[in-house]
Amino acid sequence: MSSNKKSGTKKSTEEHSDPIMKWGIRVFLLALFLALCGWLDTIKDRWYVFEPSKLHALAQDAIAAYPDDVGAMAHYIVANLTAEYPSTRIRINPDEREWVFNNAGGAMGAMYIIHASITEYLIIFGTPLGTEGHSGIHTADDYFYILSGEEWAYALGSFEKEVYPAGSVNLMRRGVRKQYKMHKGCFALEYARGWIPPMLPFGFADALTSTMDYISVYDTVRATGREMIKNLLIGKI
Ligand SMILES: *[C@@H]1O[C@H](CO)[C@@H](O)[C@H](O)[C@H]1NC(C)=O
Repeated sequence: MSSNKKSGTKKSTEEHSDPIMKWGIRVFLLALFLALCGWLDTIKDRWYVFEPSKLHALAQDAIAAYPDDVGAMAHYIVANLTAEYPSTRIRINPDEREWVFNNAGGAMGAMYIIHASITEYLIIFGTPLGTEGHSGIHTADDYFYILSGEEWAYALGSFEKEVYPAGSVNLMRRGVRKQYKMHKGCFALEYARGWIPPMLPFGFADALTSTMDYISVYDTVRATGREMIKNLLIGKI
């Protein structure tokens, strides 16, 4: 009897203190995690390899060398980057035929992933047909260097379209939202720097909820994963 009573009392004190303890630990771990994220955000610049101004110059040189020939421009850009950056510092995808369809934010085009890591990606994106959609809200600054055609953009509160012709750059800072349209024949070199993994769901949502193009999803996951892992292996975060 008395031992039963004792264990019963013990159980009820455990039940009483456990949830407080459990939640205390959870709140503490969450605070620790947020502090870690905040700290990583202040030091993320140290992992950047590419320079926005250099990429802009490179895009302009590629346009001057091969106006309106996006395939030749892609080759020019990749050859330049491969010569500029040693393979011990950054992994660059040399397979210029590795184009994948991408549907995101309602827009559709094709992309070639030149580089992908945790803090940067560099792709060529576009379509000869033109396309339009929502930019998404991103955790990275996004530089859109127009290689051919024209991009139009529209921000809330404005009544005029922004026009970005070949050779110009549309910089969308982290957190900025716009409607955008890539006019007929528009291709761009797109450079994102910031936190790349949280951007990936935007890149897959349309395929997983609408197009069901599992081939593109597979190809994109494979290429992105491969590039990110190869970068991590050489210490490029
Ligand atoms: C790459 O392009 C940049 C910018 O246009 C240029 O300054 C640099 O000399 C080029 N590098 C090579 C190896 O071609």
